[in-house]
Amino acid sequence: MKMERAWWKESVVYQIYPRSFCDSNGDGIGDLNGITGKLDYLKELGIDVIWLSPVYQSPGDDNGYDISDYRNIMKEFGTMEDYDRMLAKAHELGIKIMMDLVVNHTSDEHAWFVESRKSEDNEYRDYYIWRDGKDGKEPNNWGSCFGGPAWEYDERTGQYYLHLFSKKQPDLNWENPKVRESVFDMMVWWCEKGIDGFRMDVISLISKCPGLPDGAVGKSGYGDFAAYCANGPRVHEYLQEMNRKVLSKYDLITVGECSGVTVEEAKRYASASGEELNMVFQFEHMDIDGGESFKWNHNKIPLTELKKIMSKWQTELAGKAWNSLYWCNHDQPRMLSRIGNDSQEYREVSAKMLGTCLHMMQGTPYVYQGEELGMTNYPFTSLEEFRDIESINAYRELTGKGIVSPEEMFDYISYKGRDNARTPMQWDDSPQAGFTTGSPWIPVNPNYREINAKEQMERETSVFYYYKKLIRLRKDYEIIVYGDYELLLPDSGELYVYLRSYQGEKLLVVCSYTDQETVCEIPKELRERTGKVLISNYGREETGLESAGDKIALKPYEAAAVLYT
Ligand code: GLC
Ligand code: CA
Repeated sequence: MKMERAWWKESVVYQIYPRSFCDSNGDGIGDLNGITGKLDYLKELGIDVIWLSPVYQSPGDDNGYDISDYRNIMKEFGTMEDYDRMLAKAHELGIKIMMDLVVNHTSDEHAWFVESRKSEDNEYRDYYIWRDGKDGKEPNNWGSCFGGPAWEYDERTGQYYLHLFSKKQPDLNWENPKVRESVFDMMVWWCEKGIDGFRMDVISLISKCPGLPDGAVGKSGYGDFAAYCANGPRVHEYLQEMNRKVLSKYDLITVGECSGVTVEEAKRYASASGEELNMVFQFEHMDIDGGESFKWNHNKIPLTELKKIMSKWQTELAGKAWNSLYWCNHDQPRMLSRIGNDSQEYREVSAKMLGTCLHMMQGTPYVYQGEELGMTNYPFTSLEEFRDIESINAYRELTGKGIVSPEEMFDYISYKGRDNARTPMQWDDSPQAGFTTGSPWIPVNPNYREINAKEQMERETSVFYYYKKLIRLRKDYEIIVYGDYELLLPDSGELYVYLRSYQGEKLLVVCSYTDQETVCEIPKELRERTGKVLISNYGREETGLESAGDKIALKPYEAAAVLYT
């Protein structure tokens, strides 16, 4: 199939987690005016689109992923006027804004739910999923993502409502056409305001299997809902309807967060025919190190597995759908601390290597705030430092039931907890990293004196400059956007090497994931040709790679992209 060109395929997206980005008024919480003040920084980095994590009115049970009014701004973040100013300034700079669309659930404080829980004959009753209990217990055995059962009993009507996440996040009933109309109306309202796209929160969960059958019981003692909710029976029908009624009427970038999505499913969600979304966030590469008690462990990601999964997505979607590319977001620990090396010695070089490895692939790359500086996981020393409902609840539940010891569990949430990504953005070496003049809602990583934007913008060898170059290269070389992908050396546990091909050109991408020196064989077809190093984390653009015969000698965590024309 011929690959259609599209602006969203040629873009690089930057994710902002507003609470942790920049605080403009000293209350310790990032806000919209803070973002507006940093748009020039993002322009300098060269990104095209901002994915804004939720800024809507919310009681903040899950930091904004529990929305009580889709058409208002969270007080702590500012006002709608602040939003409009941010949008206008972004557009002036040529930066697009992609909104987070959280419509699998609302907050329990949303007017629809407030009505819904009043009585069984309330006109909003069917906006949510209400069921009678079974033998005095929950309607089925599903556990929620944030611990405990996925059902909450509501005394007023004597029924239970479903919440796949916290009990303050009741699930919407997408089978009700009125729910769909209400969501679509709200989306149109934002589109008319001039926004440029949607990132759709857990969109793969909106269609539940009729009957809501019990799930297989896991270590937590609850049943797993995934088999009956992830990529459910009507999800594509709903998205096609959304596309017909909203998305197709505007020029948008759309990405669906799809936990549990397979390549086959993704070909439908993100089909090149454009009936649903532009692309999905898949989770296979994030979940490699998962285990029996969900993600709570200290496992390392084996490189061979990572390569297998990334390569499967690269080759199988080619020409049929489109990939998103990401290492980090607000739900994941920092990839640099996970598979890179965050020690003093190798932090910068391995951050650049990870950037090279991802950004030279086919797909739309996403940079998560601070990734462009090589920000790391946080050195947790006490439970009081955690803010995230997921980590705190998991700690209570698994230690409370004696499934994991407190010491081990502390270790796990420190390594895998979402707060690692949510510590404040490190702007400079002034107190609180320049994030706030007050006291931040979550502690600042003490390494901000070495790792901060100000220092890196003044030093051309920094991770910031390297990301800027990666982003620039995508604009200058079509092969990076549209080239085919082929994995080389699949069995190497130290090197990730792949070849891109486009209109007779080749791009060789070599990335070393080890702190040792190593060698990489030059592919036969390239031995006679001289390549041009487009980017290198050891500054080899002028000299070329160090080679001996048919082999390239690589330093620890070395990475390079070499173009053969
Ligand atoms: C998504 C969000 C996450 C949130 C959850 C529930 O996974 O990325 O932050 O907790 O959905 O809305
Ligand atoms: Ca603030």
